[in-house]
Amino acid sequence: MRFFIDSAKLSEIEEAYSWGIIEGVTTNPSLIKKAVEYENKRGNNVFLENYIKKILKVAKGTPVSLEVTSTDYESMVSEAKNLFKKFNSVAKNVYIKIPVNPSLCDDDSCKRKDFDGIKAIRELSKLKIPVNCTLIFSPEQALMAAKAGAKLVSPFVGREDDFLREKAHIKFNKNDYFSALGIKDKGKDKKINDEGIISGVDLVKKCVDLLRADKKIKTEVLAASIRNKQQLREVAIAGADIVTLPFEVLKEIIVHHKTSEGMKNFVGDVVEEYSKLRRGIENRVVKK
Ligand code: E4P
Repeated sequence: MRFFIDSAKLSEIEEAYSWGIIEGVTTNPSLIKKAVEYENKRGNNVFLENYIKKILKVAKGTPVSLEVTSTDYESMVSEAKNLFKKFNSVAKNVYIKIPVNPSLCDDDSCKRKDFDGIKAIRELSKLKIPVNCTLIFSPEQALMAAKAGAKLVSPFVGREDDFLREKAHIKFNKNDYFSALGIKDKGKDKKINDEGIISGVDLVKKCVDLLRADKKIKTEVLAASIRNKQQLREVAIAGADIVTLPFEVLKEIIVHHKTSEGMKNFVGDVVEEYSKLRRGIENRVVKK
């Protein structure tokens, strides 16, 4: 499973890439807003075009997803083409993020454009523009996006968990762990579910299973909206091809208090002879 960083902050992307284990970047309009606000607060005026170009250069050789913001077929395709033309020449690593369904509401109170995302993915894939299909909340949406030619599909783990917890009237903080095995509905035998999906991790697992069942499909599953390290472990076990992680979660993964305690002991136990050895000083027999 490959690790991507889920951020539009240049400083975070640069630092994460310096570790040598990051193989892609995902952004979205909210992450770009956060990055711009962060830079502005520090007195850095952001010229977004150059800022994005810098991100693309840092990530050279690995995909960077840039999301469209239009909500109908024609405008999404046109926006995708513009973004791809403007930015792909920088490092040949642009993926266009297209929402699986761009409708702004889920009932008939607004103009429905339910299939515009699928149509846009189909068109872009014909034009050989790689697509990361975003906002996936069901394995069937992932299958449709894959059939339309998306290179990546992004099920949203954390947001699925949020939905299930809200349904169960559970109070939670954004980064709280929610069991991959779901929870039972109060007083009932059945688990709280969203059309059979019992957790964000379960959503990833079912997307993986469904896409792998059709040998002709080469689309990869990118687990998105990850909020903690347990989710990372579980989406890896569920078979995700890629996981995209916020910088804070990436940093949290590497820390363990027993590792620090062990380090303190090892460093404290270095005898003089061992110290000389490791500094390249000639070794002599240790007198007993
Ligand atoms: C990545 O592709 C998504 O845009 C992102 O992971 C969403 O994460 P969030 O649900 O924490 O905002």
